[in-house]
Parts: sequence; structure tokens; C-alpha cells
Amino acid sequence: MKKLLITGGAGFIGSHVIRLYVNKYPDYHICNLDKLTYAGNLENLKDVENKPNYTFIKGDIVDGDFIQRLFEEYQFDGVIHLAAESHVDRSISNPMEFIMTNIVGTVNLLNSAKDIWKDNFKGKLFYHVSTDEVYGSLGETGFFYEDTAYDPHSPYSASKASSDHLVRAFHDTYGLPIIISNCSNNYGPNQFPEKLIPLFINNIRHKKPLPVYGKGENVRDWLYVVDHARAIDAIYHNGPTGETFNIGGHNEWKNIDLIKVLCRVMDKKLGRTDGESEKLITYVTDRAGHDLRYAIDSSKLQRELGWVPSLQFEEGIEKTVDWYLNNQKWLDNVTSGNYQKYYNEMYGNR
Ligand code: NAD
Ligand code: TYD
Repeated sequence: MKKLLITGGAGFIGSHVIRLYVNKYPDYHICNLDKLTYAGNLENLKDVENKPNYTFIKGDIVDGDFIQRLFEEYQFDGVIHLAAESHVDRSISNPMEFIMTNIVGTVNLLNSAKDIWKDNFKGKLFYHVSTDEVYGSLGETGFFYEDTAYDPHSPYSASKASSDHLVRAFHDTYGLPIIISNCSNNYGPNQFPEKLIPLFINNIRHKKPLPVYGKGENVRDWLYVVDHARAIDAIYHNGPTGETFNIGGHNEWKNIDLIKVLCRVMDKKLGRTDGESEKLITYVTDRAGHDLRYAIDSSKLQRELGWVPSLQFEEGIEKTVDWYLNNQKWLDNVTSGNYQKYYNEMYGNR
């Protein structure tokens, strides 16, 4: 039985990857290592937690001795590394946690994988999940390609860029078999309501202001989270080692246009008059260092591994809104406690 370590499996994307792997690969033993920070939530995995091929391990990737012991005990065959501090705004207020988890934590995993596998790298793989934000910001036109030079601007993207470089350095220096993927913005069920789409769904629900940064003209490329998990699966199993794959939906939206679509869908679902939620839009001070535009070219992934997104955005956004409205308890749970403190510090007491 192959043993696979998935880090950050209690988070947004990680929980979708765990679900896909546990159900699709009964002959793999899946170990989910997660610190359960504010963003980690075992509720996201209720449907798979009792499966015989699944084990949850609570732990911190920053603790190098613990990681070394874990690799010695389990003798993993592969790693899919998702654990990270992931929110740009938090990285602006507290960069150090991003440096520790995203950089030091990644090196701890790389070191342990190298030590355990060094006598025979055959059949082993360290898959590092990264973001398109490492490439920096685009103007009105153009795309990020796999060979676009790195140019990160936030402490979050700089810490992810640093971890990507270290993953490649372990490949080039020690021969560690690695793969990296850089994905665009994800949306879908289980995303913590600090990111744009779930935050705004929750605010619309409570008729709270929708804080749009700057003029709302920044552009992001949105991909449904299950399609990201499918891409990770395709790349993990069929991608040549040492390579990088961009993942994206060819689905660019100006923030303000996306927000208006969200408002319309929510008005319809909540039985409100069309246009009611749009009145909640409030322009606030722009994010420092706010990247103007991300757009990813994922043609390598489509050409070489035959992956294409399974959902169009209109369908994805409907499914997403339905999920949050059908899981209001989940939203209420994660927005109790410390969330309120974060919200007040971030947006004032609106
Ligand atoms: P998330 O914040 O929802 O989840 C992160 C998970 O990592 C949480 O479960 C958290 O408890 C865990 N974690 C954090 N610090 C840890 C530590 N020190 N030790 C162990 N576990 C720890 O993040 P996400 O949105 O699911 O992103 C997952 C990965 O995908 C990240 O590496 C992120 O950079 C990358 N990514 C995210 C997006 C996106 O749109 N969300 C897009 C591209 C790439
Ligand atoms: P976010 O979901 O934080 O993802 P990222 O910064 O990683 O792209 O933000 C998506 C876009 O929405 C980004 O341009 C910032 C903007 N935004 C707002 O306008 N208001 C908000 O309250 C948030 C959280 C984001």
C-alpha cells in the first residue's frame, strides 16, 4: 500500500484533494498532516474521516524534529504539500508567520523527504502546490507562463516564491523528485470567509457592507476548487518530475464585475429584489501593493495531460452560493470567536 502525506488537508483546497484521493485511491494510505490553524477545519472532512485508508495527524510543519520523526515512522512514498498561510491581507499585517510556515515549514518537509528517500528516489515524489501570485502582476494584456520570471509583491507571494525556489533547489542539488504547480484563484465550498467570494457571500447574507478595495478594477482568474484538485491528481500521477505546471480556468473577472454577478445570484437565491445587495458595495482603501491583474496560461497542462476545467463559472458560482446557503452552520461556526477580532481589525467595526 502506497503511503501518501498530504499537508494542509483540513484547509480549503486540501480538503478537496483529500476527498478526491481517499475515495479514488482505496489502495493508498492517505495521511493528512495539519496544524489546524484558524483556516483548518476537520468539519471539511466529515464524510471521509472514518475511511480505512485515511489518517489525520495534528502537527506543525515548522517543527523540524517532529517532521523528521513522522517521515521515519510512516516512510511516505509521496508528499502533496498544501499547508501554508494563504491570505495576502494577513501576510501584510503579520509577515513572520508566512515566513515560518511557507518557507521554513517547506524546507523541513524537503529535508525529511530527502533524508528518507536519498538511497533510492525511484517511485518517490514531492509535489509542491503553489500560486500564480509568484509571477507578480500583469498589465491589461498577456499571461503567466511556466517560464515567466518570478516577481512577487506581497509577503504571502514572496514566501510562496521562496518555497518554490527551495523545492527546485532540492531537485537540482540533491536530485529530489519534485513537481510544482502554480494555480490561479480558487473558489468553492469550504473556503474560509476572509477571501473575496465567501466573505462577500457571508456579508450579503447579513446585509453588511461589501468592502471593495480601490476601484474594484483588479482582475483575477477564477477556478472551481474541485477542478484544481483534479489537476493536482493528473499532475501527481502523470507529470514528469522536475517540471512545473500552470493551472487556471481562462476565466478572468474584474473584481467589481464578479461582485455584481455574486450580488445578483444572491438576490435571486435569497428572494430579494434584484439590485438590493449591490447597494451594499462600499469602496474602501486599496490593499497595499495590490497586484492589478493575474491571468494564467494553462495550455501546457491541457496539451500534455489532457486536463480541462469541468465547470463554467456561472455554474460554479451557483454551486458555491448554494453550498454556503445550505451550510450556514459551517459559516456561523467559522465566523464566531477570533473571526470577529480579525474582521474588526481589517475592516473596522462595520
Ligand atoms: P487554507 O488557508 O484554506 O488552508 C491551509 C491549511 O494549512 C489549513 O488547514 C491550516 O491549518 C494548515 N496549516 C497552516 N499552517 C500550518 C503549519 N505550520 N503546519 C501544518 N499545517 C498548517 O489554504 P488554501 O486556500 O487551501 O491553500 C492551500 C495551498 O494552495 C496553499 O499552499 C496556497 O498557497 C495554495 N494556493 C491557494 C490558492 C487559493 O486560491 N486559495 C490558489 C493557488 C494556490
Ligand atoms: P482574495 O480573495 O484575498 O485573493 P488574492 O488576493 O489572493 O487574489 O482577493 C481577491 C481580489 O479581491 C483581490 O483583488 C483583492 C480583492 N478583495 C476586495 O476587494 N475586498 C476584500 O475584502 C477582499 C478580501 C479582497
